[in-house]
Amino acid sequence: MTDLTGSMDFTGMKDGTEPVAFPQNRTCPYHPPAAYDPLRAARPLARVTLFDGREAWFVTGHGVARALLADQRLTSDRTHPDFPAPTERFAQIRDRRAALLGVDDPEHRTQRRMVAADFTLRRAAALRPRIQQIVDERLDAMIAQGPPADLVTAFALPVPSTVICVLLGVPYDDHDFFEEQSRRLLRGPAAYDVQDARDRLEAYIDDLIGRKEKDRGTGLLDDLVHLQLRSGEVDREYLINLAIILLVAGHETTANMISLGTYTLLQHPERLAELRSAPDLLPAAIEELMRLLSIADGMLRMAVEDIEIAGTTIRAGDGVIFSTSVINRDETVYPDPDSLDWHRPARHHVAFGFGIHQCLGQNLARAELEIALRTLFARLPGLRLAAPADEIPFKPGDTIQGMLELPVAW
Ligand code: HEM
Repeated sequence: MTDLTGSMDFTGMKDGTEPVAFPQNRTCPYHPPAAYDPLRAARPLARVTLFDGREAWFVTGHGVARALLADQRLTSDRTHPDFPAPTERFAQIRDRRAALLGVDDPEHRTQRRMVAADFTLRRAAALRPRIQQIVDERLDAMIAQGPPADLVTAFALPVPSTVICVLLGVPYDDHDFFEEQSRRLLRGPAAYDVQDARDRLEAYIDDLIGRKEKDRGTGLLDDLVHLQLRSGEVDREYLINLAIILLVAGHETTANMISLGTYTLLQHPERLAELRSAPDLLPAAIEELMRLLSIADGMLRMAVEDIEIAGTTIRAGDGVIFSTSVINRDETVYPDPDSLDWHRPARHHVAFGFGIHQCLGQNLARAELEIALRTLFARLPGLRLAAPADEIPFKPGDTIQGMLELPVAW
């Protein structure tokens, strides 16, 4: 039984696996935390403890993950008092309405339809020449400075940051501000940072909307201001929330994927050599990197009804956590799951999520990753780490995974 304070009876956990604290830090930036190993063995469901002492389900099996992510008996409404909070930081802003990611159907469907046309495969394809130009300019500047360079600040972060600015109509001149606030929002360190960063981002977008009301530009935000806001289809608060999620999700995630993807390839020289000699493999390599790195490692839901699955009952009010890194290494779907091998079909991974909340920006992210990695390795054939691999700092387990810095030379 579960009560609404979140205490659970895990009747049905047959193997007696002890709960492990979630989230944990990775020990290698491209492998799931070693502390999850006992949970990996307990497929398809295990349990974890959260910072506030609550327990939650931890989904580890690929089939069960996809079934649950498509199940409307799980909610994404983080304002619910029983919604699982992985960190104090998350708990601090759970009362703020999150556009798209925090709403269920049918409202979610309405919200998503409003922006879907700007994130189609076709739209991403149309943006490719502009992305290529942004990538080339960044590499020109990095090469002109000469080695060594921090690939995160010189390349991995500015590329997606510039692209999302172009798409939304946010002035890139403000990037220091919004990158810093995104960092504080996603990585704290203190609860104060999260509240304050969120307040500052809201004020910034509010002001930007005001400027766009007077002077229409060419981005998605301009269209939303002049069509949906003006007609009353959306209110200003919603538009601010939407802009924040697009701006933050639109640069932080892809930046981490570029930095961690580069690090991982440099750690697998034989694979990198294959990719250089057969660039057509790049799309498959990106899918495999997405699977292996699983940078958004911990999607959150809460059951609103009892759910019978895999011989277990998930009770209404239970928190459910999806560790993408563990799910994407289900050996029944991906043989030898810890290896980097793009000759396997990596499709159906859940690194972009699954179900109604599956990543809105995935076509854009794939285009950016392909152009960024292809151009980086083509222009810098001698690219190498400029520090011992195990001394390069990476992000802690309670945020999107990636490199904190990436010293490189060429
Ligand atoms: C490699 C880069 C990326 C990764 C790994 C990633 C990962 C994810 C994941 C796992 C989800 C689902 C979360 C959940 O169900 O709880 C998601 C949703 C989302 N992503 Fe991405 N993402 C990436 C890039 C982007 C980009 C470039 C954008 C551009 C705006 C974006 C915007 C969003 C939005 C708006 C949602 C919420 C969709 C909804 O609720 O309908 N993401 N992303």
